[in-house]
Amino acid sequence: MADRREHRGSGITAHIPVLLAESIEALRVKRGGSYIDCTVGGGGHAQAILEAGGRLVGLDADPQAIKAAQGKLKNFGRLTLVNENFGHLADVCKSLNLSIVDGILFDLGMSSLQLEVSGRGFSFMRDEPLDMRFSPQQSVTAADIVNSYSVDDLAKLIGKYGEGSRSRTIAAHIMRNRPITTSGQLAEIVARAVGRRGRIHPATQTFQALRIAVNNELDNLKIGLAQAIDLLAQRGRIAVISFHSLEDGFVKEIFRKESSECICPAGTPVCICNHEPRLKLTRRKPVQPTSEEIANNPRSRSARLRVAEKV
Ligand SMILES: C[S@@+](CC[C@H](N)C(=O)[O-])C[C@H]1O[C@@H](n2cnc3c(N)ncnc32)[C@H](O)[C@@H]1O
Repeated sequence: MADRREHRGSGITAHIPVLLAESIEALRVKRGGSYIDCTVGGGGHAQAILEAGGRLVGLDADPQAIKAAQGKLKNFGRLTLVNENFGHLADVCKSLNLSIVDGILFDLGMSSLQLEVSGRGFSFMRDEPLDMRFSPQQSVTAADIVNSYSVDDLAKLIGKYGEGSRSRTIAAHIMRNRPITTSGQLAEIVARAVGRRGRIHPATQTFQALRIAVNNELDNLKIGLAQAIDLLAQRGRIAVISFHSLEDGFVKEIFRKESSECICPAGTPVCICNHEPRLKLTRRKPVQPTSEEIANNPRSRSARLRVAEKV
């Protein structure tokens, strides 16, 4: 399910790492082991890996996140921070002469810092320029999309990445109210288009869809996961925390394929693929936050952690 509830009144000002103990345990972080955090964000998981004695390379596409992590983690040695998209993970590792690691973490999506204080229009609760780029190097903003796509393309994008209904009504309202330059404007237009019901803000799905499109999130995830699996040492672990069903379904499917002995199309009478599994699942079901974690950090409620081990 998409993470659809409002953040109003949550009082979040710092990013609280989600499923922290569970992901560090899943990675089996050991002293002197070598790890990559592909989504360093506020540095919470990175700090835990470093405290457990790991050597760490941390990536983030957002230069502000890297700056914040540099400040937070300044007292640790054994740390290299790189402002890069994890879609370029292999190149980053090559440039660092790193060919094999013991564990890799992806904690997907955006941080509370981006949502609350970046000023880049990630939140429908704020009136900010409608940007939503993780990195200023990217050329297309959310405003570019809402102001230039055809109604059909907008409806498709909102339906596909927002995982919701009424995408055509929303797209038609957007068309009628162009140009749209701020997050507040867009949130209001979507709310007028579909009406408000319950605790879930009606613009949640549209904002999710735009963020995924602006940052090409699913393509980068596909590339990043493939490169991460290549980099893992034997018995090395990969841990992925996702926040909506599109991401989680994607991770589940890649892990399923990579851990299967046969990937022949359904109905093939005899296996002809000779597929060699590269991963073993540590458990079938994803790890979910406890009710205690959700109470302490409502943002964690939609989190799912999937873990696999290199064979
Ligand atoms: C949920 S936050 C990570 C929080 C972090 N684990 C912590 O404990 O503070 C996700 C971060 O991943 C970054 N990110 C998302 N997609 C990325 C990508 N393709 N490449 C690099 N960083 C990405 C975002 O900029 C954001 O800072």
